[in-house]
Amino acid sequence: MNPNEQLRQEFNEWAADGRGTEMERHHLDITEKTIQKMNLRPGERVLDLGCGTGWATRLLARLVGDGPEGSGQVVGVDIADEMIRKARAASRDFENVVYVVAPSHEIPWQENFFDKVLSVESFYYYPDQDRALAELFRVMSPRGRMFILINLYKDNHYSLRWVNALKVPVQVRSESEYVQLLKAHAFQDVQAFRIPDETPTPDEYSGKWFKNAYELRDFKRIGALLLTARKPDVRSMSPAQAIY
Ligand SMILES: C[S@@+](CC[C@H](N)C(=O)[O-])C[C@H]1O[C@@H](n2cnc3c(N)ncnc32)[C@H](O)[C@@H]1O
Repeated sequence: MNPNEQLRQEFNEWAADGRGTEMERHHLDITEKTIQKMNLRPGERVLDLGCGTGWATRLLARLVGDGPEGSGQVVGVDIADEMIRKARAASRDFENVVYVVAPSHEIPWQENFFDKVLSVESFYYYPDQDRALAELFRVMSPRGRMFILINLYKDNHYSLRWVNALKVPVQVRSESEYVQLLKAHAFQDVQAFRIPDETPTPDEYSGKWFKNAYELRDFKRIGALLLTARKPDVRSMSPAQAIY
């Protein structure tokens, strides 16, 4: 089975057994902090890549609502059709949200379109991160900004426990490797931030990923990695696009 089909099947299962909805609870604190940094304005066009059930997409849609140049628009893209089905069902009241089933390496949208991109806990699943970045560069508007938030990266050693336990292969890079990767794709103003999860941790931990509550608290203290970058003021393709 090719890696994208494997991802689609795996995440359709997540959607079916409720894990898609459960993720809002785990990602809300770090995502809200990221959205604050996005400095969204009414009228902006935003892409939520790997949107899952769309809870963050809807937060974005409220923030870009009506502006002087009309209503902002948010597009949620996900490889798993079950995730998108749930996202659409939960977004019926939103007129400025569209969901599309597509993989990160083939975003079915016009070039130079999005002012901002958000991607929450999804980027490390992409089998070809280079190709995903080339696609993001293509669909982002000149001077558009990208916000990639991930909990699995080398500098948070607890997250490495997931690497072999997950049913799908994942990419494992360090903060500095990611910064180099984004720069290699001609993104500018590349920065890395740590986003701690400041939600309370119960004293007792009974899950499978941490030995005890102390470890979970420490994982949350080290925090997620937020990568931010800007597309240069050009309407051209990414230099890497020529490869594909
Ligand atoms: C851990 S979930 C996070 C979902 C959502 N962003 C959230 O925080 O609830 C990862 C999501 O990325 C999607 N995904 C994984 N690989 C993808 C790819 N290559 N292209 C598009 N979406 C992908 C999955 O289907 C899944 O919905």
